[in-house]
Amino acid sequence: MIPGAPINQLSGSSYHIITFGCQMNKSDTERVAGMLDALGAEVAASQDGADIIVFMTCCVREAADERLYGQVASLKNSKALVAVGGCIGQRDGAELAAKMPHVGVVFGTHNIASLPALILEAWETKKPAVEIISNKEAAELEYPVTGADNPVKREHAWHAWLPIMTGCNNYCAYCVVPYVRGREKSMPFEEVLEETGKLVADGVREITLLGQNVNSYGRDLYGQPRFAELLYALGESGIERLRFATSHPKDLLEETIQAFGEVPALMPALHLPVQCGSDRILEAMNRRYTSGKYLELIEGVKAACKAAGKEQVAFSTDIIVGFPGETEADFEDTMTLVRAVGFAQAFTFIYSRREGTPAASLVDDTPREVIQERFDRLVELVQQSAWDFNQQFLDTEVLTLFEGASKRNNHMLAGRGPGNQTVHAPLPNGAASTDFAGKMAPVLISEAKTWYLRGTLL
Ligand code: 5AD
Ligand code: SF4
Repeated sequence: MIPGAPINQLSGSSYHIITFGCQMNKSDTERVAGMLDALGAEVAASQDGADIIVFMTCCVREAADERLYGQVASLKNSKALVAVGGCIGQRDGAELAAKMPHVGVVFGTHNIASLPALILEAWETKKPAVEIISNKEAAELEYPVTGADNPVKREHAWHAWLPIMTGCNNYCAYCVVPYVRGREKSMPFEEVLEETGKLVADGVREITLLGQNVNSYGRDLYGQPRFAELLYALGESGIERLRFATSHPKDLLEETIQAFGEVPALMPALHLPVQCGSDRILEAMNRRYTSGKYLELIEGVKAACKAAGKEQVAFSTDIIVGFPGETEADFEDTMTLVRAVGFAQAFTFIYSRREGTPAASLVDDTPREVIQERFDRLVELVQQSAWDFNQQFLDTEVLTLFEGASKRNNHMLAGRGPGNQTVHAPLPNGAASTDFAGKMAPVLISEAKTWYLRGTLL
């Protein structure tokens, strides 16, 4: 229950949440849904007809930023109460409410716990309710400032996001995150253990630790990172599958790499954004590693996993194409690196100029068509790489944690393998897909496609 809040204040109302951006927003969405449910509101079947529409926003790239403003503007004549949270809420605050008077609530990334009270206030006063705690103020507050004590409505009962830190101290030249989300702030070590214990007791089988750069976890509190130590401690918690996102290569320490070999629950999957394969551009991006160093890290994780019998590590990454000054030779370096790693997945982005970042003042004269053509080549290579990666699972058993029926086919089970690959298996005759939700079983793989594996349940 929300501390101090009367029960059922929102009963009879329905809500719809639209989420953009990163996993932190997905995690925050589960908190928002949990709070609204706890006050008696119900999920609306769609945006149309919902009494409350909540946007969890992202401002990393300009296109998404503009789309959000367009989408909110299109609700001008809607009777619903429109609430805007996430990064755009934090960044634009009262300005957003002034620009779009039909917006009822604007809340910042540190103000999630206040959302129900803000909704009630907006309804009562018929005026916009805005609450933004600045990053400076938030730095003085206890973690978690997002209100982890509040009820969380998890998308899957067996999976939990666990934000162990907020903010970022890295200042990559293209990125707005440090300006919007503020400096790194970690959840105290004991609290992470306590929270994990509660989740395990609640039947959670897989936890994904979240932060903009989890490798720095603990630096703000303890003077040095304690991320590897945290992984070892959580390995003793009874959690069966442990993952984390996101990692900055420059902060991925040897002790963390070793944890892949020594913590059985730590899954053989690592999301390690490389951004670019050219050392010249990496320097301009202020990434503070070289492509050679990146490949060493990859080899280190592979070796640590292999020694522990965890074969086939699934590496995934983020890549930006068209950073100011990127030449064809720089781009070729990216293609070479992608070939060398053999990524299971890569999220590819066209560089987006963000006001206020150091890269915004760089000369950016590569023609749009050239960047698009490079991007298309990269996407094709990434698809090939994902396909190649999946071939090694043919005729092998993949231990799958099932989610239930596949979204497209009721007779097909869907789940995730250790590398987080999607695994499909036909539902056995007479069985209900719901019986499999949250269960783990091996699947003998007979088909390996670009984005999924398929086989028979054993
Ligand atoms: N333009 C394009 N992509 C960006 N990212 C961050 N900032 C920008 C930008 N200005 C990408 C990076 C990051 C991911 C979350 O978003 O690849 O890892
Ligand atoms: Fe942005 Fe770099 Fe921080 Fe990631 S590490 S959030 S890309 S500044």
